[in-house]
Amino acid sequence: MSTVSVIGAGYVGLVTAACLAELGHTVVGVEIDPRRLSALQRGAVPIHEPGLSELVARHHSTGRLSFTNAYTAAIPGSEFVFITVNTPSGPDGQADTGYVYAAVRSVLEHARPGLILVMKSTVPVGTADEIAQLIAYSRRRGIGVVSNPEFLRQGSAIQDFLQPDRVVIGASRPAAAAAVAQLFAGLAAPVVRCSRRSAELAKYAANAFLAARISFMNEVAAICEAVEADIEEVAQIVGSDRRIGPAYLRAGLGWGGSCFPKDVRALAATAASHGRRPAILEAVSEVNTRQRERAFEQLRAALGMLPHATVGVLGLAFKPDTDDLRDAPALDIINRLLGAGIAVRAHDPVAIPNARRVLPQVQYCHDAYEVAQGSDALLLATEWRDYLALDWRQIRTLMRGRLVLDGRNVLEGSLLSALGFTYLSFGRSSSLGVTAPLARPAASASSGLWTAKP
Ligand SMILES: NC(=O)c1ccc[n+]([C@@H]2O[C@H](COP(=O)([O-])OP(=O)(O)OC[C@H]3O[C@@H](n4cnc5c(N)ncnc54)[C@H](O)[C@@H]3O)[C@@H](O)[C@H]2O)c1
Repeated sequence: MSTVSVIGAGYVGLVTAACLAELGHTVVGVEIDPRRLSALQRGAVPIHEPGLSELVARHHSTGRLSFTNAYTAAIPGSEFVFITVNTPSGPDGQADTGYVYAAVRSVLEHARPGLILVMKSTVPVGTADEIAQLIAYSRRRGIGVVSNPEFLRQGSAIQDFLQPDRVVIGASRPAAAAAVAQLFAGLAAPVVRCSRRSAELAKYAANAFLAARISFMNEVAAICEAVEADIEEVAQIVGSDRRIGPAYLRAGLGWGGSCFPKDVRALAATAASHGRRPAILEAVSEVNTRQRERAFEQLRAALGMLPHATVGVLGLAFKPDTDDLRDAPALDIINRLLGAGIAVRAHDPVAIPNARRVLPQVQYCHDAYEVAQGSDALLLATEWRDYLALDWRQIRTLMRGRLVLDGRNVLEGSLLSALGFTYLSFGRSSSLGVTAPLARPAASASSGLWTAKP
């Protein structure tokens, strides 16, 4: 078993630290955000990720997991240091590696020969090579640099880490690759060894490909609306083809979060910086933006003329089972609604404390029923399980209007229509289409009911 430091205790770092402790290693998490650190040192986990609190608590008590902000305490005793700090979008779309280089510099001040730096942050191709070169120039001997991109999904991060499809190890020296592979020996997963550059690029390619699948199906959903086909049926048929598979084929408001948007942008920026036009990546982002715009336009078309129009939003996080709001479609649409003078009431099972910080103008509610109260329209923006079995009869009595925009294609459209709702979704035959050319019905100021259905 090894001694490991993990730099940055965010979504990836915390999961990495806790799971490496679970694999038997002794792990120190190094975190510079004082609020995050003090929570962790008290034994509280400052982010929502199923199973993470329990795992962190367990290894706090086994003594295999601790947290500090002192590199000097963590690094000298470590055989491996994982870099898991954030790499946000820079102004040119490329990932900003400022936090990565700052972390690496701090590590190197305390590093001993034999240390292996494991780059888990998603970084532009060539970053690990450049860090290796900087280390060589600084005449430090015996420090290895390995790329080990992370493919976990927020919401199922622990399972993804402990049961990955593959562990990718990009290295220039077989000994360093073997040492890092040994860290993951407890996992029943194939290890893919490759160059550092291939490992870095594979991470971007995987995220961009997943985003492309969703955008592609959103494009097909728009075609479904035009030709009166049903996206669910189409997706099922397409996804049952073994060459394609069923994942990431659901039409709706599209992708968001901390990774897909910035990684698609960064890969496009990489291509452009080498004189390649990333035509597919540009379209992938464009279709995604269009989904949000169309949802907003439909709501505004239906409600914009109403005095004191109110939209109720169900779900704020970019996906279920996380409190992460980064680039969440809900936030984008809420900002557009507020800008158009439409009031917003909202609920999310876990993301409200984060949302209050960025959207103080929203009225936050205890549950979906409170959101429905007095709303002219409801937008389901995140498919939390709590929203899949709502009592729509009760909601009908609470709402002022009858419009329901199912941003995730998860509600029973025919049921809602039978109850008298105007049900909108993406490319489903049981609904009006969100991406269809906009009908601009005259909204009824008295009832708030949009009756555009032919
Ligand atoms: N979130 C995901 O689902 C996911 C999945 C795969 C890969 N990634 C990649 O992993 C990286 C981290 O993502 P995240 O979502 O965990 O980010 P995050 O913002 O949640 O966490 C980063 C943490 O690093 C800390 N930090 C920054 N600089 C530091 C330093 N010098 N020393 C110590 N701590 C420092 C920050 O305070 C923060 O707590 C990114 O490159 C991201 O693209 C993320």
